[in-house]
Amino acid sequence: MEIKLAKTAGFCFGVERAVNSVYELLKEGEKLYTYGPIIHNDTVVNDLKEKGVTVIESREELLSLDEGTVVIRAHGVPECITDIINEKGLKCVDNTCPFVKRIHDIVKQKSGEGYNIVVIGNAAHPEVIGIIDRAKGNNTEPPVVVENEEEARSFKLSKEIPLCIVSQTTFRENKFKELVEIIENRGYNVNVVNTVCNATSKRQREAKDIASGVDAMLVIGGRNSSNTQKLYDICKNECPDTRFIETVDDLRFDIPMNASMVGITAGASTPKKIIEEVQNYVRINF
Ligand code: F3S
Repeated sequence: MEIKLAKTAGFCFGVERAVNSVYELLKEGEKLYTYGPIIHNDTVVNDLKEKGVTVIESREELLSLDEGTVVIRAHGVPECITDIINEKGLKCVDNTCPFVKRIHDIVKQKSGEGYNIVVIGNAAHPEVIGIIDRAKGNNTEPPVVVENEEEARSFKLSKEIPLCIVSQTTFRENKFKELVEIIENRGYNVNVVNTVCNATSKRQREAKDIASGVDAMLVIGGRNSSNTQKLYDICKNECPDTRFIETVDDLRFDIPMNASMVGITAGASTPKKIIEEVQNYVRINF
């Protein structure tokens, strides 16, 4: 059995930076909180919990804190969250990925210049919630989030006001372009900034390439990781025997795969150790 492991599998720059920062801060012995799980990976989040890191799940929980350090994850947060941290005198370690920060800056600037903002992405995703929060221009309409063709065809914004379109960093690049085309064809005057992260598009392209030439494909990542879900969809399209697993345990009870070539990729929040465990298990057992 041959294994093709994607070179782009695992932590991206922004996630690695955020996770390393929490482990570094732990050494300083301060009481640590992360605003939301630092990454979409239970193994890492549970390890940090055991080491004393508390995950804050809501604004209310944040308001109840009196001391400690609050770490902001790579997705970023709405400005009101950093305001609360500062007002309460808590220490803030902002690990918002610089590529996400760049989107905040674009949205802030364009919204201030009088553009309506459209974000291509998932409205419920924390990164998108942080991005739309930056659209605070006085002469604009509330920002709109578009995730699919139907939404691209039906949202209602004035055609008198130009649109600035940006993307969630982990959105599929081709899909982003398709949705932009639909919006352009509706007659809007658009300024498009493709903010799909390069790490994401590279990972997706490589996954597609590998999946198209193997008998079975394993996609490793957290169940609630949107970039892993997208990787899975891309691979499933190319390779019908594609499996979404979180750890090697999901494979242990699985039927052995009757495959001579297996591809492996992993989402941006999958630690190297988990990828290696899966790779070794496949090598030994299939
Ligand atoms: Fe940043 Fe790109 Fe990762 S935006 S968090 S490096 S996917």
